[in-house]
Amino acid sequence: MDSIIKLNNIEKSYTNGKVKNQVLTDFSWNFERNCFTVLAGPSGSGKSSLLNILATLDRPDSGIYILDGQIINFEKKKELTRLRKENFGFIFQSFNLIPVLSALENVELPLTLFKYREKERYTMAEEALTLVGLRDKINKRPYEMSGGEQQRVAIARAIARHPKIIFADEPTANLDRKNAWNIVHLMKDLNEKEGLSFVIASHDEKVIQTGKEVIQLGE
Ligand SMILES: Nc1ncnc2c1ncn2[C@@H]1O[C@H](COP(=O)(O)OP(=O)(O)OP(=O)(O)O)[C@@H](O)[C@H]1O
Ligand SMILES: [Mg+2]
Repeated sequence: MDSIIKLNNIEKSYTNGKVKNQVLTDFSWNFERNCFTVLAGPSGSGKSSLLNILATLDRPDSGIYILDGQIINFEKKKELTRLRKENFGFIFQSFNLIPVLSALENVELPLTLFKYREKERYTMAEEALTLVGLRDKINKRPYEMSGGEQQRVAIARAIARHPKIIFADEPTANLDRKNAWNIVHLMKDLNEKEGLSFVIASHDEKVIQTGKEVIQLGE
Protein backbone atom coordinates (compact mmCIF):
# COMPACT_ATOMS: atom_id res chain seq x y z
CA MET A 1 0.00 0.00 0.00
CA ASP A 2 1.30 3.42 -0.93
CA SER A 3 0.64 5.50 2.14
CA ILE A 4 1.76 9.06 2.80
CA ILE A 5 0.70 9.24 6.44
CA LYS A 6 -0.08 6.38 8.78
CA LEU A 7 -1.62 7.06 12.17
CA ASN A 8 -1.57 4.20 14.65
CA ASN A 9 -3.56 4.18 17.90
CA ILE A 10 -3.70 7.95 18.27
CA GLU A 11 -5.18 9.37 21.49
CA LYS A 12 -5.93 13.02 22.06
CA SER A 13 -7.64 14.69 24.99
CA TYR A 14 -7.87 18.19 26.39
CA THR A 15 -8.02 18.79 30.10
CA ASN A 16 -9.88 21.78 31.48
CA GLY A 17 -9.26 21.94 35.21
CA LYS A 18 -10.30 18.50 36.39
CA VAL A 19 -12.47 17.71 33.40
CA LYS A 20 -10.87 15.53 30.75
CA ASN A 21 -12.33 15.72 27.27
CA GLN A 22 -11.27 12.67 25.24
CA VAL A 23 -11.41 13.75 21.59
CA LEU A 24 -9.67 10.90 19.74
CA THR A 25 -9.62 7.33 21.05
CA ASP A 26 -7.43 4.65 19.50
CA PHE A 27 -7.59 6.31 16.10
CA SER A 28 -5.77 4.56 13.25
CA TRP A 29 -5.84 5.36 9.54
CA ASN A 30 -3.78 5.15 6.37
CA PHE A 31 -3.78 8.32 4.29
CA GLU A 32 -2.77 7.06 0.86
CA ARG A 33 -1.26 8.79 -2.12
CA ASN A 34 -3.92 10.54 -4.19
CA CYS A 35 -6.42 10.38 -1.31
CA PHE A 36 -9.48 12.60 -1.14
CA THR A 37 -10.42 11.96 2.46
CA VAL A 38 -13.14 13.87 4.29
CA LEU A 39 -13.19 14.16 8.08
CA ALA A 40 -16.87 14.42 8.96
CA GLY A 41 -18.81 14.65 12.20
CA PRO A 42 -20.72 17.17 14.29
CA SER A 43 -19.22 20.30 15.82
CA GLY A 44 -16.80 19.34 18.58
CA SER A 45 -16.27 15.79 17.25
CA GLY A 46 -12.55 16.38 16.73
CA LYS A 47 -12.20 17.14 13.01
CA SER A 48 -9.90 20.11 13.51
CA SER A 49 -8.03 18.33 16.30
CA LEU A 50 -7.26 15.42 13.97
CA LEU A 51 -6.33 17.75 11.13
CA ASN A 52 -3.98 19.66 13.44
CA ILE A 53 -2.26 16.44 14.45
CA LEU A 54 -1.95 15.37 10.80
CA ALA A 55 -0.43 18.75 10.01
CA THR A 56 1.91 18.27 13.03
CA LEU A 57 0.64 21.57 14.44
CA ASP A 58 -0.49 19.70 17.54
CA ARG A 59 0.80 16.51 19.12
CA PRO A 60 -1.11 13.41 20.13
CA ASP A 61 -1.05 12.22 23.76
CA SER A 62 0.04 8.80 22.50
CA GLY A 63 0.18 6.76 19.33
CA ILE A 64 2.45 6.72 16.31
CA TYR A 65 2.59 9.08 13.34
CA ILE A 66 4.45 7.80 10.29
CA LEU A 67 5.21 10.09 7.34
CA ASP A 68 6.64 8.35 4.27
CA GLY A 69 7.72 5.40 6.37
CA GLN A 70 9.44 7.53 9.03
CA ILE A 71 8.16 7.82 12.59
CA ILE A 72 7.64 11.48 13.51
CA ASN A 73 9.21 12.72 16.72
CA PHE A 74 6.99 15.51 18.05
CA GLU A 75 9.79 16.73 20.34
CA LYS A 76 11.89 17.93 17.41
CA LYS A 77 10.26 21.28 16.70
CA LYS A 78 12.71 22.42 14.02
CA GLU A 79 12.38 19.14 12.19
CA LEU A 80 8.58 19.43 12.31
CA THR A 81 8.74 22.92 10.83
CA ARG A 82 10.89 21.60 8.01
CA LEU A 83 8.56 18.63 7.40
CA ARG A 84 5.53 20.91 7.20
CA LYS A 85 7.26 23.29 4.84
CA GLU A 86 8.50 20.50 2.56
CA ASN A 87 5.43 18.27 2.47
CA PHE A 88 2.20 20.03 3.36
CA GLY A 89 -0.16 22.57 1.86
CA PHE A 90 -2.84 24.35 3.89
CA ILE A 91 -6.26 25.76 3.02
CA PHE A 92 -8.25 27.62 5.67
CA GLN A 93 -11.87 28.55 6.17
CA SER A 94 -11.06 32.27 6.14
CA PHE A 95 -8.71 32.18 3.09
CA ASN A 96 -5.90 34.02 4.99
CA LEU A 97 -4.79 36.15 2.05
CA ILE A 98 -2.71 39.29 2.47
CA PRO A 99 -4.95 42.24 1.51
CA VAL A 100 -2.27 44.52 0.05
CA LEU A 101 -0.87 41.84 -2.26
CA SER A 102 -2.21 40.77 -5.66
CA ALA A 103 -3.32 37.19 -6.28
CA LEU A 104 0.03 36.49 -7.95
CA GLU A 105 1.99 37.98 -5.04
CA ASN A 106 -0.08 36.08 -2.48
CA VAL A 107 0.79 32.79 -4.18
CA GLU A 108 4.42 33.79 -4.75
CA LEU A 109 5.13 34.94 -1.19
CA PRO A 110 5.45 31.53 0.54
CA LEU A 111 7.69 30.35 -2.29
CA THR A 112 10.30 32.85 -1.06
CA LEU A 113 10.93 30.38 1.80
CA PHE A 114 12.51 28.07 -0.76
CA LYS A 115 15.51 28.34 -3.03
CA TYR A 116 13.74 29.39 -6.19
CA ARG A 117 14.81 32.26 -8.39
CA GLU A 118 12.36 35.13 -8.58
CA LYS A 119 11.39 34.34 -12.16
CA GLU A 120 10.78 30.72 -11.26
CA ARG A 121 8.59 31.75 -8.32
CA TYR A 122 6.38 33.90 -10.52
CA THR A 123 6.11 31.14 -13.14
CA MET A 124 5.04 28.65 -10.45
CA ALA A 125 2.53 31.12 -9.01
CA GLU A 126 1.10 31.86 -12.44
CA GLU A 127 0.80 28.16 -13.24
CA ALA A 128 -1.00 27.47 -9.96
CA LEU A 129 -3.41 30.36 -10.55
CA THR A 130 -4.06 29.06 -14.06
CA LEU A 131 -4.87 25.61 -12.64
CA VAL A 132 -7.53 27.14 -10.36
CA GLY A 133 -9.01 29.11 -13.26
CA LEU A 134 -7.78 32.58 -12.29
CA ARG A 135 -5.32 33.31 -15.07
CA ASP A 136 -7.07 36.55 -15.96
CA LYS A 137 -7.22 37.75 -12.34
CA ILE A 138 -3.60 37.40 -11.26
CA ASN A 139 -3.20 41.13 -10.69
CA LYS A 140 -6.36 41.57 -8.61
CA ARG A 141 -6.18 42.14 -4.86
CA PRO A 142 -8.35 40.08 -2.51
CA TYR A 143 -10.92 42.87 -2.01
CA GLU A 144 -11.45 42.99 -5.79
CA MET A 145 -12.41 39.30 -5.83
CA SER A 146 -15.43 37.27 -4.68
CA GLY A 147 -15.14 34.87 -1.72
CA GLY A 148 -15.01 31.96 -4.15
CA GLU A 149 -12.19 33.58 -6.11
CA GLN A 150 -10.28 34.37 -2.91
CA GLN A 151 -10.52 30.74 -1.87
CA ARG A 152 -9.19 29.78 -5.34
CA VAL A 153 -6.17 32.00 -4.71
CA ALA A 154 -5.70 30.26 -1.36
CA ILE A 155 -5.88 26.89 -3.11
CA ALA A 156 -3.34 28.05 -5.70
CA ARG A 157 -1.07 29.10 -2.83
CA ALA A 158 -1.44 25.66 -1.23
CA ILE A 159 -0.71 23.71 -4.42
CA ALA A 160 2.01 25.86 -6.03
CA ARG A 161 4.79 23.46 -5.02
CA HIS A 162 2.68 20.34 -5.53
CA PRO A 163 2.94 19.34 -1.87
CA LYS A 164 2.66 15.71 -0.89
CA ILE A 165 -0.64 16.30 0.88
CA ILE A 166 -3.00 19.24 1.36
CA PHE A 167 -5.01 19.86 4.53
CA ALA A 168 -8.17 21.92 4.40
CA ASP A 169 -10.23 22.86 7.46
CA GLU A 170 -13.83 23.73 6.50
CA PRO A 171 -12.74 25.24 3.15
CA THR A 172 -16.33 25.99 2.07
CA ALA A 173 -17.72 27.32 5.36
CA ASN A 174 -17.46 31.00 4.39
CA LEU A 175 -18.90 30.57 0.89
CA ASP A 176 -22.41 30.58 -0.54
CA ARG A 177 -23.76 27.30 -2.01
CA LYS A 178 -22.66 27.98 -5.57
CA ASN A 179 -19.11 29.01 -4.68
CA ALA A 180 -18.84 26.17 -2.15
CA TRP A 181 -19.80 23.69 -4.86
CA ASN A 182 -17.27 25.17 -7.29
CA ILE A 183 -14.51 24.93 -4.69
CA VAL A 184 -15.35 21.28 -3.96
CA HIS A 185 -15.25 20.53 -7.68
CA LEU A 186 -11.97 22.33 -8.07
CA MET A 187 -10.33 20.29 -5.30
CA LYS A 188 -11.80 17.08 -6.74
CA ASP A 189 -10.45 18.02 -10.18
CA LEU A 190 -6.99 18.71 -8.78
CA ASN A 191 -7.16 15.32 -7.06
CA GLU A 192 -8.18 13.47 -10.23
CA LYS A 193 -6.23 15.36 -12.89
CA GLU A 194 -3.14 16.57 -11.03
CA GLY A 195 -2.89 13.65 -8.63
CA LEU A 196 -2.90 15.89 -5.55
CA SER A 197 -3.81 14.36 -2.18
CA PHE A 198 -6.38 16.06 0.09
CA VAL A 199 -7.62 15.66 3.64
CA ILE A 200 -10.62 17.92 4.22
CA ALA A 201 -12.42 18.56 7.51
CA SER A 202 -16.02 19.51 6.79
CA HIS A 203 -19.59 19.16 7.94
CA ASP A 204 -20.79 20.30 4.52
CA GLU A 205 -22.93 17.49 3.03
CA LYS A 206 -21.73 18.33 -0.49
CA VAL A 207 -18.10 17.95 0.53
CA ILE A 208 -18.82 14.71 2.37
CA GLN A 209 -20.56 13.24 -0.69
CA THR A 210 -17.50 13.84 -2.86
CA GLY A 211 -15.11 12.09 -0.46
CA LYS A 212 -13.38 9.01 -1.87
CA GLU A 213 -13.44 7.97 1.78
CA VAL A 214 -15.13 9.54 4.76
CA ILE A 215 -13.88 9.32 8.32
CA GLN A 216 -16.88 9.75 10.59
CA LEU A 217 -15.80 11.23 13.92
CA GLY A 218 -17.75 11.54 17.16
CA GLU A 219 -19.57 8.23 16.97
N1 LIG B 1 -6.86 23.80 22.32
C1 LIG B 1 -7.92 23.24 22.93
N2 LIG B 1 -8.02 23.25 24.28
C2 LIG B 1 -9.06 22.67 24.91
N3 LIG B 1 -10.07 22.05 24.27
C3 LIG B 1 -10.01 22.01 22.93
C4 LIG B 1 -8.95 22.60 22.18
N4 LIG B 1 -9.17 22.39 20.87
C5 LIG B 1 -10.31 21.70 20.80
N5 LIG B 1 -10.83 21.47 22.01
C6 LIG B 1 -12.07 20.70 22.30
O1 LIG B 1 -11.97 19.44 21.66
C7 LIG B 1 -13.21 19.08 21.07
C8 LIG B 1 -13.01 18.88 19.56
O2 LIG B 1 -12.76 20.14 18.96
P1 LIG B 1 -12.49 20.31 17.40
O3 LIG B 1 -12.19 21.74 17.17
O4 LIG B 1 -11.48 19.32 16.97
O5 LIG B 1 -13.91 19.91 16.78
P2 LIG B 1 -14.47 20.07 15.31
O6 LIG B 1 -15.04 18.74 14.92
O7 LIG B 1 -13.42 20.65 14.43
O8 LIG B 1 -15.66 21.10 15.49
P3 LIG B 1 -16.22 22.25 14.48
O9 LIG B 1 -17.11 21.52 13.51
O10 LIG B 1 -17.01 23.13 15.38
O11 LIG B 1 -15.06 22.92 13.85
C9 LIG B 1 -14.19 20.17 21.43
O12 LIG B 1 -14.91 19.75 22.56
C10 LIG B 1 -13.31 21.36 21.75
O13 LIG B 1 -13.91 22.18 22.69
MG1 LIG C 1 -13.24 22.41 13.34
